[in-house]
Amino acid sequence: MKPTLSDLERLAREAGSILLNGYNKDHTIHYKGEIDLVTEADHASEAFLIGEIGSRFPGGHILAEESGETIGQNNDTWYIDPLDGTVNYAHHIPIFCVSLGFATNGVMTLAAVYDPMRDEMFTAERGKGAFLNGGKLQVSNTSELGKSLLVTGFPYDTWNTELDNFKYFERLGKRTQGVRRLGSAALDLCYVGAGRFDGFWEFKLKPWDIAAGGLIAEEAGAKVTAVDGSPDYLKPLTILAATPGIYKQVREQLN
Ligand code: IPD
Ligand code: CA
Ligand code: CA
Repeated sequence: MKPTLSDLERLAREAGSILLNGYNKDHTIHYKGEIDLVTEADHASEAFLIGEIGSRFPGGHILAEESGETIGQNNDTWYIDPLDGTVNYAHHIPIFCVSLGFATNGVMTLAAVYDPMRDEMFTAERGKGAFLNGGKLQVSNTSELGKSLLVTGFPYDTWNTELDNFKYFERLGKRTQGVRRLGSAALDLCYVGAGRFDGFWEFKLKPWDIAAGGLIAEEAGAKVTAVDGSPDYLKPLTILAATPGIYKQVREQLN
């Protein structure tokens, strides 16, 4: 059985309530890397999502952050980030979400990103637009880099990598109204779709960070590619999502 957008919405909302219940409590934190951590809420949200998907929509591949890849028997793929913004969550900063994407035959078709702190449900279905709590989303009409507000993120191996993004952060920080760092790539993309930001870029992401948010930004009218301009951002796992009026100007700065 194929899921509908309402199915994804329900799943994301229920997983979001698991995160909300655990928010501001003491967390059990484990380290996956020097600054890459995971809490009990990541695991609880993911276990819920995988359990529901496995029983209601069996047969699809699943790419989930904490349990990795589960090979399926059909051409469907689920992208699950059970808690995007884990570092915020662990520090009791209220910026995080559940991100759920669904693809068939390699094409992303459905997306739901839910922010339980603000009760904001971002959704999209390919070809049918993007929505926030049912209201249609549209990217900003900004066309000047100097009038734009951007957002970006930094990888978990920042301490040790050359591609730490600081060069581009500085470059764009000096040519825009500012570059924010919220700590949730999925929400960054949704906020581009909502016109709150004019653009987002990041390197070294994972498919579950950007699969759902990418479709939401696209359906809201953003141009979404890999940083080098190639259309399939889920392969190189870099992303540039911007309102069409500034997309080219941001890309030139990232070269
Ligand atoms: C992270 C967030 C962050 C981004 C990192 C991601 P996580 O995901 O989306 O904004 O900068 O690259 O890994 O670990 O909170 O799910
Ligand atoms: Ca993530
Ligand atoms: Ca996560």
